[in-house]
Amino acid sequence: MGENLIIFNAKIVTPLGFSSRKGKEMAQLHIIENGTVEVTDGVITYVGENRGEDCDGFHHHFWHYNARGKCLLPGFVDSHTHFVFGGERAEEFSWRLKGESYMSIMERGGGIASTMNATRELNFIKMRSKAEGFLKKMSAMGVTTVEGKSGYGLDRDTELLQLKVMRSLNNDEHKRVDVVSTFLGAHAIPPEYAGRGDEYVDFIIKEMLPAVRENDLAECCDVFCEQGVFSIEQSRRLLTAAKEQGFLLKLHADEIVSLGGAELSAELKALSADHLLHASDVGIRAMADAGVVATLLPLTAFALKEPYARGREMIDAGCAVALATDLNPGSCFSGSIPLTFALACIYMKLSIEEAITALTLNGAAALNRADRIGSIEVGKQGDFVILDSNDYNILPYYIGMNCVNTTVKRGTLYPV
Ligand code: NIG
Ligand code: FE
Repeated sequence: MGENLIIFNAKIVTPLGFSSRKGKEMAQLHIIENGTVEVTDGVITYVGENRGEDCDGFHHHFWHYNARGKCLLPGFVDSHTHFVFGGERAEEFSWRLKGESYMSIMERGGGIASTMNATRELNFIKMRSKAEGFLKKMSAMGVTTVEGKSGYGLDRDTELLQLKVMRSLNNDEHKRVDVVSTFLGAHAIPPEYAGRGDEYVDFIIKEMLPAVRENDLAECCDVFCEQGVFSIEQSRRLLTAAKEQGFLLKLHADEIVSLGGAELSAELKALSADHLLHASDVGIRAMADAGVVATLLPLTAFALKEPYARGREMIDAGCAVALATDLNPGSCFSGSIPLTFALACIYMKLSIEEAITALTLNGAAALNRADRIGSIEVGKQGDFVILDSNDYNILPYYIGMNCVNTTVKRGTLYPV
């Protein structure tokens, strides 16, 4: 699968590498002012200076695209979303505007449980078509790979259904976005297990994880490790079992309070720890030492009016930082890549170069795919973003406004 494509006269802007970039490495981008990339059958076969191509159109078995005046970047990797769900929660948002907190809404039966009810009502076709709508919007903002989580079924069949929807979207021959699935059965304690969190964790370990694994429905296992949701002990037990069953590990860590999720992610050698608004200094150092990707979600901090994660300090401590949107119907109903850039640079104090690495190569690393995507290098997938300008500084400068001209998926051009 994949097309033959030559893009010439581009300003190529990319991190380099086949694993995450940590600390100071995040700011180092490779730039070619007048560059050409060649994609053969969807895979990059040349990156370098222009070679003399000067004619648009289809000839010699390749589409030729003149990118004069435009930047070419790796496709964006949104490595943390919850884009498969039923219903919306606009009313809850209005309560939050009046001062009620996210956790208090959850404690009185709203929040994730409310989306669970709406999700359990959907059949495969309805769930898939709603989710597919999000993928189209993401592609228009330059996303070429997205991670999606289950976690709104909280029973065996609906959790599996969410994952089957993601697999079906990923198997689509004409997909614009690759989908990487994460099992998040431990997103909340369902009403059937109210007051019996430990028993629900047992049920996940014995009944759900093996079913997900047998059907090869998810690569990663995640948990909402938070005060009043899943404790450190429950999270450790669940993730240890998941690791034994062959899953890569992710955590929603230290989002609302400083619980020690960052430290746990390092202890378990998780692929990533996400949110980290309240990660401790010890936790940040432990993640840097263990090579856990710190995935920061500035749109959620913005929407919840919480303090932003300490992105600058994490990079200075030597962490590999990724940025993602956290698109979900509750805490953050936004998949805006442009606003993610702006908030990360303005409030988390990432440089523009660091933010680019965070949304490309480090996002890929957070999905165990840095060997395949996330940079413009021979052998990687032909996934790119073409910007409307030859100045990549517009990425955070266009605050919340899209500056993507064309998204390229495995060598196929999708004009925005
Ligand atoms: O990443 N914090 C937990 N999970 C989501 C929110 C899910 C929801 O509110 O529906 C998050 O913020
Ligand atoms: Fe999330």
